[in-house]
Amino acid sequence: MARTVWDSTVGKKTVMAVSGLIMLLYLVVHMLGNLKIFFGAGEFNHYAHWLRTIGEPFMHYEWTLWAVRVVLVLAVVAHAVSAYQLSRRDIKARPAKYVHKKARASYATRTMRWGGIILALFIVWHILDLTTGTVHSGGFESGKPYQNVVDTFSTWYGNTIYIVAMLAVGLHIRHGFWSAAQTLGAGSRTRDRALKTTANALALLLTAGFLAVPVGVMTGVVS
Ligand code: HEM
Repeated sequence: MARTVWDSTVGKKTVMAVSGLIMLLYLVVHMLGNLKIFFGAGEFNHYAHWLRTIGEPFMHYEWTLWAVRVVLVLAVVAHAVSAYQLSRRDIKARPAKYVHKKARASYATRTMRWGGIILALFIVWHILDLTTGTVHSGGFESGKPYQNVVDTFSTWYGNTIYIVAMLAVGLHIRHGFWSAAQTLGAGSRTRDRALKTTANALALLLTAGFLAVPVGVMTGVVS
């Protein structure tokens, strides 16, 4: 049964939609949490510490955080595998293959594919930068995310990488949210306008909220 669903195109699209919505929920919470940087180092670092102690004393230190990490990794893998397989299927099914030139995928499809690849690379960079400190520009200190974030946005390449990624996030969510709603059956002639507006508003709010942090550091509001 699960095999039949997974083998179908609509099954893969459903996996993409559900895993995408899980990641979207994470992004909304992450963006809102990041804005706490405007309340100063004490509050921001305290918030990062709290993330590791959620559910105590029932949960051990970092258990909830690890549970969230496991869910996110599963969502990323499910999203990427189904995207890859759908894209292979799409290429194979293209009748234009037999004509002289390769038919080009639509603008939205190409943006989603490239956007997805950029975001996957960004997530690796971002974890190495602000979670493990491996590629961090300053003297990385775990437990001091405020200073770590300020260091990241004090370099030209840090700002460039994050700003490009935030724009990619916005574009990806704008189209992805809309597609997910259609796949999950929320679309209809009367609701499509509202869904488009919601997708645009969500993409704009997330991009602006995330961008506020590098802009805050660049303008000296956060230092
Ligand atoms: C300006 C934008 C962003 C800033 C300032 C930022 C900041 C941070 C910081 C400080 C951490 C480490 C938190 C800690 O260890 O307590 C972190 C972790 C993380 N961020 Fe971001 N982030 C941004 C955008 C994003 C985006 C767009 C994504 C996803 C596409 C993302 C995904 C993650 C993930 C997956 C983690 C790892 C969580 C973990 O396993 O510890 N972040 N971020």
